[in-house]
Amino acid sequence: MIAIEAKGLTYSYDGKSNAVDQLTFQVEKGEVFGFLGPSGAGKSTTIRLLTKLIAPPPGKVFILGQDMSKANHSFYKKIGIAFENDVLYPTLTGYENLIFHAKLFGTGEAEVNDILKKMDLYKSKDKKAGEYSKGMKTRLVLARALVTNPEVLFMDEPTSGMDPEIAAYVREVIRKMNQKGTTMFLTTHDMNEAEKLCDRIAFFNNGKIVELDTPESYKKRFGEKTVTIEQSGKKHTFTQDGDLTSLLAMIGSKEFESIHSQEASLEEIFIKVVGRGLKGGA
Ligand SMILES: Nc1ncnc2c1ncn2[C@@H]1O[C@H](COP(=O)(O)OP(=O)(O)O)[C@@H](O)[C@H]1O
Ligand SMILES: [Mg+2]
Repeated sequence: MIAIEAKGLTYSYDGKSNAVDQLTFQVEKGEVFGFLGPSGAGKSTTIRLLTKLIAPPPGKVFILGQDMSKANHSFYKKIGIAFENDVLYPTLTGYENLIFHAKLFGTGEAEVNDILKKMDLYKSKDKKAGEYSKGMKTRLVLARALVTNPEVLFMDEPTSGMDPEIAAYVREVIRKMNQKGTTMFLTTHDMNEAEKLCDRIAFFNNGKIVELDTPESYKKRFGEKTVTIEQSGKKHTFTQDGDLTSLLAMIGSKEFESIHSQEASLEEIFIKVVGRGLKGGA
């Protein structure tokens, strides 16, 4: 079954260039689907369009079969949205932020306490959200999206600004939610995150999907395995389809210090396919 379907989604902020351009894709139920792209690619705009936070002039979105142009408030109970730099109520505590949101959607105290614990925020639940660190705010935003136990979850750069250790913990929470059946759409500019979380990754640039595949298949299709051999302090790198005669001779001579094989990273593949890197300006 299809959980998310976008058909010809297009959006322009200035009427000149399209931030999202004729976007069409489908996400299967239970899948973790990622948009990987640099800053300014149109990732956040895509989430706003999918969740009807801005209305697309042309184009259609269906979530769990529901035409989003006709969705009412109660449908939003089925979806969770976690935005980067989202607005929390800064003078309310973490707990109050969550209980307020939970009650809007008919969820209660037990779920709030449970998600606070899962997000490692329980100890800080009575602190004002405005006093939280950036990483804690991001976790609170994610907790708020999860507290209603959504069927489909949208996350915009879910671990951005977190310490690596906390980011790894949050990814684990995300993975567990997915294993319970939540369909997930996430955006990221972090190839490591995309690779660790996503079943399929769309390479996204200039409002368009440039390529769409599984992490493993990207590596098979575009990745070149290399072998680096160090001899007399000099490094020699060989690619799989290159001339391997001298590599074999070096190995045969047994006069080498080290030998390493390496797979192409998703970031290298992104550059190869899209023609630009994931970091750098908007
Ligand atoms: N509120 C806005 N008003 C005008 N332009 C915007 C606005 N938000 C984003 N943009 C522009 O739309 C493009 C896509 O932005 P965005 O969706 O935020 O990309 P990403 O999330 O991939 O960094 C960028 O060129 C950005 O400058
Ligand atoms: Mg963004």
